[in-house]
Amino acid sequence: MKIEALRSFVFMRNQSSLLRRHRAALLIAALICGIAGALVLPRGGGAHEPITTTVMFNKEVIRILERNCLDCHAPGKIKADIPLTTYEEARPWAKAIKEEVLEKRMMPFQAVKGFGSFQHDYTLPQRDVELLVSWIEGGAPRGDVKDYPKDAIEKLTAGKEWELGQPDLILQPKEETKIAAEGEDETRCFALPTGLKDDRWIGAVDFQPGNGAVVHGAWFAIERAPQSRVIKAAKRINNNCPPNAESLGRWVPGQSANRLPNGVASRLPAGSRVVLKIRYRKTGEEATDRSRVGIYFAKEPVNRAISHVAISAPAAVIPPNAENHRVKASHAIAEPAEVVAIRPLLFPFAKSIEVTAHRPDGAIEVLIWARDYRFDWQPAYFFKKPVALPKGSRIEVTAYLDNSENNRNNPNDPPAQMRFADALCEIALSSAPPTKAAPRTQARR
Ligand code: HEC
Repeated sequence: MKIEALRSFVFMRNQSSLLRRHRAALLIAALICGIAGALVLPRGGGAHEPITTTVMFNKEVIRILERNCLDCHAPGKIKADIPLTTYEEARPWAKAIKEEVLEKRMMPFQAVKGFGSFQHDYTLPQRDVELLVSWIEGGAPRGDVKDYPKDAIEKLTAGKEWELGQPDLILQPKEETKIAAEGEDETRCFALPTGLKDDRWIGAVDFQPGNGAVVHGAWFAIERAPQSRVIKAAKRINNNCPPNAESLGRWVPGQSANRLPNGVASRLPAGSRVVLKIRYRKTGEEATDRSRVGIYFAKEPVNRAISHVAISAPAAVIPPNAENHRVKASHAIAEPAEVVAIRPLLFPFAKSIEVTAHRPDGAIEVLIWARDYRFDWQPAYFFKKPVALPKGSRIEVTAYLDNSENNRNNPNDPPAQMRFADALCEIALSSAPPTKAAPRTQARR
């Protein structure tokens, strides 16, 4: 935070004298060339190069950032250390922004377009990339203060509303959790009683971080089994997380909420608890958090329960400096299924992952291809249309790992041989039986 303030302060100081010189030079150039009309002078903002673009921060650029970046890059959000909400904040990052968007590293969700068709496309549209690059290469002008969408940005940084409307049930830990200023990321588990007297069907789950600057990700599950001594002991060593909870999904900053398809839901038995597991990041300042889980009951009659499988690669040894070490995993589909969502989960050495479905008739379909993976930003991808797989299909997972110094996530310098027991890379597949399978049960509200 402090460094950022300093950075923009230095920048503002530099720009005032530069701006004066720069304006004069620009005017002379414009007069000489006779193209004054084509050039736009920066107003109160500045750049070190002549302005050769009509793309303005306050007009086009802030809208692109608002749509794609500010869920993370804003005060109070997970990348509050790189805020991009105003010209003063964003200008020092202009060169880095160009690099990140041209290399397709931002946004950090990396399902490659054209491989799998998902409900939310997290790739930055090519037109937005072009506008950002034009703004940066053209001298990164500020534009008219009147154009800046102040209200929209204030609303966004104040906290998002529930994307799917008011939840039927909002669950929240009893008290604020204290997060220390320094140290490694930390995972905490909260078991939240629902107080429900009847079984319910869950059609969607959403999440609102209490303190977006420290909540790095969240995971939800249903704790079905009654408390036994064995479970209690396991919880003590597993950060108070019940070992047998059934997944309800995950959340990372910037991810959109999804509803399961009509007729598909997770059963929430009466008396069970919703487990909320949160990964906290340290910011250098002590913080507190009290996040909320929003539960939406299925509105349509439910006849298909969602189920989840984890497919993971077997044990492996990765030699040092291997740049393209391949690991594979495979899973046979025993019953016909409709795949609703997929979530690749990769560890620091992974560089890409491809998941394909092989049907018994020989047809092959790519379910997802994710590359340039930022291993700690892994949303679930919901298919636009569930992928129907007949019995006897096979899911093949191929991941490439980079244990060289080119991998910026490599914890070893110089690279060292790595041994992994299992779960080196894993995908979670959420699916439901096909439409005509199960008898109807009425959803109860
Ligand atoms: C889901 C959260 C998220 C979103 C959305 C996001 N970023 Fe980032 N951004 C990060 C994280 C986290 C980092 C730090 C690097 C890392 O962890 O990989 C980062 C780093 C950066 C950096 C600094 C890179 C460097 O040189 O260190 C820039 C610039 C950046 N992002 C720009 C953008 C832009 C532009 C967008 C929108 C198109 C965007 N980000 C969207 C999370 C996000």
